Amino acid sequence: MAHGTTPDEEHLTVGPGLGFPSYALRSGGSPLGWPSAMPANPRRPDVSRETRGTDDVSRETSSDDQPASADVSAQGVVASPERADDPTPVTDDRAAVAAAIPEVGVDTPLARAVATDHVKRITLVGVDLPRPSETRVLTIANQKGGVGKTTTTVNIAAALAQGGATVLVIDLDPQGNASTALGIPHHAEIDSIYDVVVGSTPLGEVVATCADVEGLLCAPATIDLAGAEIELVSLVARESRLRRAITAYIDERRASGEPIDYVLIDCPPSLGLLTVNAFVAAREVFIPIQCEYYALEGLSQLLKNVELIKTHLNPGLHVSTILLTMYDARTRLSAQVAEEVRIHFPGETLKATVPRSVRISEAPSHGQTVMTYDPNSSGALSYLEAATEMAQRHAARTRPEGEPQ
Ligand SMILES: Nc1ncnc2c1ncn2[C@@H]1O[C@H](COP(=O)(O)OP(=O)(O)OP(=O)(O)O)[C@@H](O)[C@H]1O
Ligand SMILES: [Mg+2]
Repeated sequence: MAHGTTPDEEHLTVGPGLGFPSYALRSGGSPLGWPSAMPANPRRPDVSRETRGTDDVSRETSSDDQPASADVSAQGVVASPERADDPTPVTDDRAAVAAAIPEVGVDTPLARAVATDHVKRITLVGVDLPRPSETRVLTIANQKGGVGKTTTTVNIAAALAQGGATVLVIDLDPQGNASTALGIPHHAEIDSIYDVVVGSTPLGEVVATCADVEGLLCAPATIDLAGAEIELVSLVARESRLRRAITAYIDERRASGEPIDYVLIDCPPSLGLLTVNAFVAAREVFIPIQCEYYALEGLSQLLKNVELIKTHLNPGLHVSTILLTMYDARTRLSAQVAEEVRIHFPGETLKATVPRSVRISEAPSHGQTVMTYDPNSSGALSYLEAATEMAQRHAARTRPEGEPQ
């Protein structure tokens, strides 16, 4: 226990992540790399070399390793490194600068990966994304555990919010991992999504603001939710309780002139009543698939469930997006899983894939998404690419005919 605090205060100051006490976070770091101070987290991540810390940058993400031909400032203005003392932007034509980066052959995979990240940094960072005309409600689901549902939910949400959208993450998993990753308190005393789904608390009363990213909101989950599967069984309209709460909240926000652009629901690794509530509340299903052999085994069961919900409870439900996560470009297995998924779901699978990345797995222990923890890392750039693709594909699909792109 920290000096000068009562047991009650101590309870309230338990930090995010592995239940690490917050005083430990303040005490100058630990062998695990816990920082003594949180990095700054502007909505537009500053990826300029001058502002990057070097002490906790892994090789994976160090820009010093990279044969930089250009840097992108927070506003996305491109300047060449030789002219770093000259603030005049050389050009703001991102595509032209990206095209000027020399092609790297397949025989040097590391250099190729560096060049690819560099192009992503130039073309994607700081770009405003198209916002949907109506709120998009997506359920991030896969009954297989540990495939990257929560990681995908929070990072896509942060990337969309950094792109100018207002995004609500609903943590519907009793583990509360999404709440942790967004730095939202979720100990037992907090009003949470449990009170909304099982009780009658309006969603707006439990929504908290994520301090790190402007426009990012979260309805946290507490351990109470573990009992919800059983408690829901005897309740009226047990499958549509979340839908009702979300619809009321969306309407309320629209009426107050602060519309929500996206609602992302992070599901538990099961197909129980909580997941059914998420399927009934959403219009779109977003499936993260881990690039491992077993990843495909549960997929048909998941798709069957989506069809059942569609037939009986939510006719508009459809799988809109599939994202390949933990992709390891060095293994044939990853490539084979990716190929298989793309053959079966050519329209739904995003071109962007998310690599295995140390920075992605470190970020939650700091109560952050990788989008703010290390916006320069390959993991952050991949999630930014995926979010951009997701927003642009939807905009292209819903754009009225004849309207310019
Ligand atoms: N691209 C990645 N690179 C490295 N680690 C990752 C990546 N994506 C996820 N992880 C790590 O894998 C673990 C599982 O990820 P996550 O919690 O997002 O999966 P999940 O599907 O939500 O799990 P659950 O089914 O328990 O809810 C976490 O420790 C996370 O940090
Ligand atoms: Mg999870």
